[in-house]
Amino acid sequence: MQRIIYGVLIVMAVACTKAPAEPTGLVTKNAMVVSAREEASAIGAKILQRGGNAFDAMVGTELALAVAYPFAGNLGGGGFMVYRKSNGDVGALDYREKAPMAAHKDMYLDSTGTVIPGLSTKGATGVAVPGTIAGMFEVHRQFGTIPMNEIIEPVIELVEAGVMVTEKQAARLDKYWEDIIEINGDNTLFYNKCEVGDTLRYPSLANTLKRISINGRDEFYKGETAKILADFIQDNGGYVSVEDLAAYEAKWRQPIIFNYKDLRLISMCPPSSGGVTINQIFKMLEPYDIGDDDYNSARTLQLFTEAARRAYADRNYFLGDPDFVDIPLDVLLSQDYLEERMQSFSFDRATLSSDIREGSVLMAEHDETTHYSIVDQYGNAVSVTTTLNGAYGSKLYCDELGFFLNNEMDDFSAKPGVPNMFGLIGAEANSIAPGKRMLSSMTPTIIEKDGNLWMVVGSPGGSKIITAVAQTILYVYEFNMSMQEAVNTPRFHHQWLPDEIVFEPGGFSEETKDKLRKKGYIINEKLTPIMGKVDGIRILPDGSLEGGADRRGDDTAVGF
Ligand code: DON
Repeated sequence: MQRIIYGVLIVMAVACTKAPAEPTGLVTKNAMVVSAREEASAIGAKILQRGGNAFDAMVGTELALAVAYPFAGNLGGGGFMVYRKSNGDVGALDYREKAPMAAHKDMYLDSTGTVIPGLSTKGATGVAVPGTIAGMFEVHRQFGTIPMNEIIEPVIELVEAGVMVTEKQAARLDKYWEDIIEINGDNTLFYNKCEVGDTLRYPSLANTLKRISINGRDEFYKGETAKILADFIQDNGGYVSVEDLAAYEAKWRQPIIFNYKDLRLISMCPPSSGGVTINQIFKMLEPYDIGDDDYNSARTLQLFTEAARRAYADRNYFLGDPDFVDIPLDVLLSQDYLEERMQSFSFDRATLSSDIREGSVLMAEHDETTHYSIVDQYGNAVSVTTTLNGAYGSKLYCDELGFFLNNEMDDFSAKPGVPNMFGLIGAEANSIAPGKRMLSSMTPTIIEKDGNLWMVVGSPGGSKIITAVAQTILYVYEFNMSMQEAVNTPRFHHQWLPDEIVFEPGGFSEETKDKLRKKGYIINEKLTPIMGKVDGIRILPDGSLEGGADRRGDDTAVGF
């Protein structure tokens, strides 16, 4: 009898512990880079193959994305990196752009106090002080093992060889062609109406990279490049000065770390909202066992939506650059506070966003940032999201230097209560001030399970980054998908305001949507956008790596 009971207990225990899903993405034994373009992943992987570590590969991949994926890869933007070393040490680097010293709170308002359309999004007026080169040199100074010039060399070769235009890239170039011409004029050296299969070349980027390779970080911030850049931005009516460039520093920060069941998540802290917001979402979900149902069931969608609604309301009100504003993180992330936040939730009906905070706005569609994930053969991991903000940033392309400039100033709240290009409504905490960093949604994340590295993940997607990353993690952990399957699976989004759920095409049945409508949820059927472009790596039980490269783009995993 005892034997039978013991046997039953074992069967139950096995049934309760889900075996990890079989991989469906690229599997490699030692190391992997997953990014938005094969050329960039390949440069990162090659650096690893010759003995470099994840940090060396990060620098190569990031710079190569500026060449192969100018839509978001950049020298003229910024980003965030979260790392976990093989010894378990974790940390985060903030190389986010900063407002120039000439910036001020009302800089995008007219004399009546109304936001002037386009001023923070198009052309030189929206450009903030770029952080990417400072970020790359700081990572390398701290953790690099291969000389910088040897990392930059293959990127220069890529610039000189040019990059083949893919179908998706041609479509993007076509979509933004008129904007690029409007800002830069017909004579721009950037691009002459490329077709699929043509080669995209940057006449001057190779020279810029060569100077940086020889003179180091200061070339970009204090040298000839700095002078050309500041003159160019100011000649076009922008604010960034040589003093702004000279003063820029990337900053090491403490990542947001929290547990969800037996996972330990390490994600980006302010000035990105990503880590705080996924922390809130996961902690609000934890008591409900979201995995009890299907990923696309009404119950799952309702739970996630209600957690996201509450978390985004906090995001928009409380978060900003921690060097300028006090953020009550101890309260916002406490168990008591999050339990209380969910007390107004009932499975019977939708909570109204107006009952949480008021306002109503329109939401736009974007995926113009880029994320890459790297695991090296030594067990180090980096998760990096980098951006120009909009597609090709401000569209302002510096012919002499060979790269686009960001329009990151639009991530500030130009006026409390008025939405930015992602429909996000900001508050005082994210108002413009000289030298301040604008609030971000970027969510580069690394996850441990039972103390071991388990996943590296992140996404572009503006305000949808946070929900895309959270859902991808839940798809693998709670719904037992492989990394590639989780990345492929359709996603949905709610961001408090506007008070509506948006779905990607496929995956969500009319019957489920009807159930939600009956409970009072508003579903926006007109928008069926692409939500994020997730690139992740899952560590399999035998230690090998599974890549998840998003089918929504040209994203590719490369490893060995
Ligand atoms: O930092 C942010 O949250 C935004 N600048 C990210 C922009 C982005 O993801 C563009 N693509 N959707």
